[in-house]
Amino acid sequence: MTVKKDKIIEEIENIVDEEKELVSKLNDICLHLHNELPGYDWVGFYLVENDELVLGPYVGEPTDHTNIEFGEGVCGQAAERKETFLVDDVKQEENYLSCSPKVESEIVVPIFKEGEIRGEIDIDSHQKASFGEEDQKLLEEIAEIVGKEL
Ligand code: SME
Repeated sequence: MTVKKDKIIEEIENIVDEEKELVSKLNDICLHLHNELPGYDWVGFYLVENDELVLGPYVGEPTDHTNIEFGEGVCGQAAERKETFLVDDVKQEENYLSCSPKVESEIVVPIFKEGEIRGEIDIDSHQKASFGEEDQKLLEEIAEIVGKEL
């Protein structure tokens, strides 16, 4: 996906450079990833507020998990470990918060600013093992771009 990755990064940088509110930029990033990449069925941001993860802009089915403690679920574990968490089969993950029975795999990438975790990008797929190293690299690059805005 090298060519595609470069194009996506370019578009993310364009979105971030626009004169818009942060939430609107994050929403545009969700839409772009959801529309461009197969398997990106639910794309959303969680932002760290008062030491918990609070749901920000997202594209996909509504979720009950609007506030997640560190350590709780895949999102909370990624926040606690401060590293990307990739789950090939969510049914095998004991510490998992289900948003929809359709979801089969998930990737969560932390967003840092000045070494502090400030948020996460969370992607769910309706297929098993949808995400690999290329997705991780792409999303970590996007997290770095977004981190500067938070
Ligand atoms: N599955 C996540 C919860 C967030 S939803 O995917 C939108 C988790 O286990 O933390």
